[in-house]
Amino acid sequence: MDLDLLCETAEAMVAPGKGILAADESTGTITKRFDSISLESTPDSRRDWREMLLRTAPAMTDHISGVIMYDETLRQNAADGTPLVKLITDAGAVPGIKVDTGAKPLAGSEGETITEGLDGLRDRLSEYFEIGARFAKWRAVINIGKDGDDSMPSQYCIATNVHALARYAALCQEASIVPIVEPEVIMDGDHSIERCYEVTEFTLKSLYRELFDQGVVLEGTILKPNMIISGTKAESRAGVEEVADMTVECLANCVPVAVPGIAFLSGGQSDEEATAHLQAMNSGYDTPWPLTFSYGRALQAAPLKTWAGKKDNYEAAQAAFNHRARMNGLAALGEYEENMEKEMA
Ligand code: 13P
Repeated sequence: MDLDLLCETAEAMVAPGKGILAADESTGTITKRFDSISLESTPDSRRDWREMLLRTAPAMTDHISGVIMYDETLRQNAADGTPLVKLITDAGAVPGIKVDTGAKPLAGSEGETITEGLDGLRDRLSEYFEIGARFAKWRAVINIGKDGDDSMPSQYCIATNVHALARYAALCQEASIVPIVEPEVIMDGDHSIERCYEVTEFTLKSLYRELFDQGVVLEGTILKPNMIISGTKAESRAGVEEVADMTVECLANCVPVAVPGIAFLSGGQSDEEATAHLQAMNSGYDTPWPLTFSYGRALQAAPLKTWAGKKDNYEAAQAAFNHRARMNGLAALGEYEENMEKEMA
């Protein structure tokens, strides 16, 4: 384990005004996204889409600190033969890799999942390091019960998932790869923001206990949490300021100061909502860790729609990606304003 490298990588991932592009959709997930623009999902179309994003400037050079890839992408070359990993490092960003193999049904607990991927992970990590990955991602999924069912999430689900997250994190650090630990409390459902707070607090406290027990060095990790937010189908949904206040309060209660940075997932929020929430946190609070983004959908939805799989739309799609990356980069500094959406588009 090279602790200096881990710390250096983690710092670079949360550099001021920059955040992470989550472009690590599995083949199944990216195929669903391509269905929405009626594009066939093939190794080449997936490569073309991701190559277009990685060649976008100044998004990549000024606002993106790192890119999370899927196994296939990490091994792919651009159309001109340049490895995609090189496009990322040439832009000054850090290549990353999703290493979990997905959330599978949790035995004996209907509606809950356990994230898999530990078997063989040590060997995969050393190969990923050779190819150029310097950080990794593992996503645990925590669902909140519907109609006030407070038996979900179960303690069993949280305990098994944070145990797996810590095993993954320890293996990453052994390979000098920074683990992004992502325990996602899912936004779908009719639950209140208070219930999201309660479940996230329990999950994060359990996670940090487990990371401690398994000897994970917090200085060489990045946390990727959900925001504290009302369920998508909640009767009344909390506004931007309340989301910001409760998210910062929850993190302050759970996340040790030694953690070098926090990069949120977007989790199904609209593009502008995800940006506004990040802005409200950064403008309203002076937190002990940089707060930034690690967005998938909230960065890619607009350019994907604009691109629609057509060469003619390449530049317009890059403009859409530049815009979203810039808005989120500004929000990471607390310098975003809603009117910039139109004025800078
Ligand atoms: P979203 O921002 O679309 O939630 O994706 C982030 C991610 O990497 C989920 O694991």
